[in-house]
Amino acid sequence: MKVISGIQPSGELHLGNYFGAIRQYLKMQEEHDCLFFVANYHALTSLRDAPRLRRLSVDVAMDYLALGLKPERVGIFLQSDLPEVCELAWILSTVTPMGLLQRCHAYKDKVAQGIPSDHGLFAYPVLMAADILIHQTGLVPVGQDQKQHVEVCRDIGERFNSLFGETFKLPEPYILSDVAIVPGTDGRKMSKSYGNTLRMFEPENTLKKKIMGIQTDSTPVESPKDPEKDNLFALVKLLASDAERAEIEQRYRQGGIGYGEVKKRLLGMFLEYFKEARLRRQELENDPARVERVLAEGAAKARASAAPTLKAARAAVGL
Ligand code: ADP
Ligand code: TRP
Repeated sequence: MKVISGIQPSGELHLGNYFGAIRQYLKMQEEHDCLFFVANYHALTSLRDAPRLRRLSVDVAMDYLALGLKPERVGIFLQSDLPEVCELAWILSTVTPMGLLQRCHAYKDKVAQGIPSDHGLFAYPVLMAADILIHQTGLVPVGQDQKQHVEVCRDIGERFNSLFGETFKLPEPYILSDVAIVPGTDGRKMSKSYGNTLRMFEPENTLKKKIMGIQTDSTPVESPKDPEKDNLFALVKLLASDAERAEIEQRYRQGGIGYGEVKKRLLGMFLEYFKEARLRRQELENDPARVERVLAEGAAKARASAAPTLKAARAAVGL
């Protein structure tokens, strides 16, 4: 089965990206024919700073590698090294009803937050549909918040197929059911755009500062606490061993554990969980040519995979 997914290099990757996306990629690379890319075209909808975009794009690729994606099994590439998706996005946009895009949460949320909207932001799901459909993808591993975009992709593909004949395979979203939204240090969804992230590769001292600053309620140490209602515990649950999670959970319910203690332990769990990845990341930073090579090979794989579908789509519409 073909699998594709991408993450925008609109900021450094964080724990939400890891549990919401990358951990799923790691599983899938063992079983499927996968492409994982850095969605730098998509990032243009929020980032207008060329040196920063370039740096973050390579950073995301390095993060993929450090976290365990294997370039000998999967294609890792920059979206902009497959400009064919922009051509397909245009073709798809001519069969995409306005109403379909107006209903998309990501767009609606950004507009609601007062982020000025432009055509790129509005048309974002069409480009995402092109990313997916151009490879005849079967499965798209994404977090819950991207499910709607995969559904829109299916709708667009279906409409194209019904107008011009079977051209695209319709993909399924693949969502790990045990992954809830990872909360950030302020209790909202962890997100690059909220400045509330914990990053896998940040220096220990800033990580410590952020973890000690995680917002909690003011329940005293001795009082029982409901672990289900606490952000801090939500993070513990992701990073702790089963035994440690059970112990902390029991002490929450009984009372007698303070948030300060939990935060200190969370820092230790975090560093332990990502210990090997942090070492690998360091090695990659010292060997930028390796990352470039991986991206070049990944782009070649992606272009070979995309070519037949783009040709078929052009022919179907009469180009
Ligand atoms: P951000 O909100 O930080 O900009 P993206 O929208 O680029 O993150 O998300 C990239 C991937 O990571 C998506 O598949 C998304 O579902 C997942 N993801 C992002 N933040 C979280 C989170 N807090 N919890 C779970 N998954 C997340
Ligand atoms: N929209 C996705 C996000 O913000 C990134 C993305 C772009 C993507 N194209 C994709 C994800 C294709 C999966 C498949 O997370």
